[in-house]
Amino acid sequence: MEALHPLNICLLTLSLVAISANAHNITAILEGFPEYSSYNSFLSQTKLADEINSRQTITCLVLDNGAMSALTAKHPLSVIKNILSLHVLLDYYDPQKLHQISKGTTLTTTLYQTTGNAPGNLGFVNITDLQGGKVAFGPAAPGSKLDSSYTKSVKHIPYNISIIAISAPIIAPGILAAPAPSASDVNITGLLEKAGCKTFASLLISSGVLKTYESALDKGLTIFAPSDEAFKAEGVPDLSKLTNAEQVSLLEYHASPEYKPKGTLKQTTDPVTTLATSGAGKFDLTVTTAGDSVTLHTGVGSSRVAEAVFDSPPFVLFTVDNVLLPSELFGKSPSPAPAPEPVSAPTPSVSPSPAPVSEAPSPLAASPPAPPTDTPAGSPADAPAGSSENSTSGNGAGHVSVPLLRSVIITVFATVVSSVLLS
Ligand SMILES: *[C@@H]1O[C@H](CO)[C@@H](O)[C@H](O)[C@H]1NC(C)=O
Ligand SMILES: *[C@@H]1O[C@H](CO)[C@@H](O)[C@H](O)[C@H]1NC(C)=O
Ligand SMILES: *[C@@H]1O[C@H](CO)[C@@H](O)[C@H](O)[C@H]1NC(C)=O
Ligand SMILES: *[C@@H]1O[C@H](CO)[C@@H](O)[C@H](O)[C@H]1NC(C)=O
Ligand SMILES: *[C@@H]1O[C@H](CO)[C@@H](O)[C@H](O)[C@H]1NC(C)=O
Repeated sequence: MEALHPLNICLLTLSLVAISANAHNITAILEGFPEYSSYNSFLSQTKLADEINSRQTITCLVLDNGAMSALTAKHPLSVIKNILSLHVLLDYYDPQKLHQISKGTTLTTTLYQTTGNAPGNLGFVNITDLQGGKVAFGPAAPGSKLDSSYTKSVKHIPYNISIIAISAPIIAPGILAAPAPSASDVNITGLLEKAGCKTFASLLISSGVLKTYESALDKGLTIFAPSDEAFKAEGVPDLSKLTNAEQVSLLEYHASPEYKPKGTLKQTTDPVTTLATSGAGKFDLTVTTAGDSVTLHTGVGSSRVAEAVFDSPPFVLFTVDNVLLPSELFGKSPSPAPAPEPVSAPTPSVSPSPAPVSEAPSPLAASPPAPPTDTPAGSPADAPAGSSENSTSGNGAGHVSVPLLRSVIITVFATVVSSVLLS
């Protein structure tokens, strides 16, 4: 245990003042300690850094580069993420508090416990104040050995963040044996079906957008999948009236080409680009956070983001309560809605029939070709979002006739049922 040199205290206080304006930044703090550079780098790769920064009261148990290399050489990123999240305590423990643990031993909850991946209380860590000033750490499972011990305090900002070096990783039983499938082995439609997003899955298949998603898996992908309920909700436009290119844009709008788990979304202040984004400000999403709840805004509507149903960096899959309607397609101002052509013959493009789409939609065609309407306005995407001139040219996509909506729901439902029965 090392006493802090007065100069260090002084520097610490200065940087503390600089940081305290907002929240802490674990990445920036650890940059001053090269012996933890590997730990720091993995916090960034797994995006745990964002999760840590989004919390106000936290303790990080850091491992030096030697201990990290033993871990990272043997295990995939999903396992490393689980292990490191077990090293993030959701409470504040500085050296002083470690020695004041009542009865000398306690179980404390960690970020791993919040993921839902930890069976029972395996997402807790046992902290025990041993004789002679030693403090030991271990898994919460009864009878576990406490193989890891306190080495020094790297930094603490009471009572927000404490960073403590420990001698060895804490390994909860089973944590090494349960790697999530690596992102490239993931079956997206299988996951979606299990998560209650069958309609969305069948639309991805029928439109060909699934391929676009799959090719983004290795590089970083966040999917916001509307639940089957979302497609049945009131106010969901008639998707069958979209052109193929518009359907592609709509589906591409439900994914971002970056790995953004919940903690990252919580820290996001810039608009989130999607796979449909083709230029600044096009087809993006804004994010708001209230406590632990994250909401996406499209400019037309908003949707709550549920807990991740799958998370293996660099891929995370969330379900959302509502279909995300981009203002580029469904904005209320100068209606870009496709002209209501032959209403009696809904285009078959929503059907998940395995027949290959005849005019293969270019997966990158983000801005839909101008529909042949008599709307005089220019490109819909350029329309200022706020201007709501009275569009008498009518049939804004935001307003959907009930019979049409019902027929779409029935069509989608019927095709899903038949595809399920046929498979
Ligand atoms: C602790 O966090 C709160 C909330 O972010 C902040 O207001 C406060 O200044 C922080 N305290 C220190 C010492 O940084
Ligand atoms: C945190 O610090 C890192 C490294 O200095 C920097 O790249 C990053 O932008 C910072 N994050 C925030 C949210 O300020
Ligand atoms: C922590 O682990 C030690 C050793 O296995 C055990 O004796 C102690 O009861 C545990 N503490 C708690 C709070 O479970
Ligand atoms: C993915 O899962 C779906 C639904 O469970 C299944 O039909 C399909 O064959 C699977 N694809 C692969 C490549 O395993
Ligand atoms: C738009 O409609 C509202 C209510 O129907 C009406 O009061 C207003 O004058 C209209 N504005 C224009 C520009 O036509």
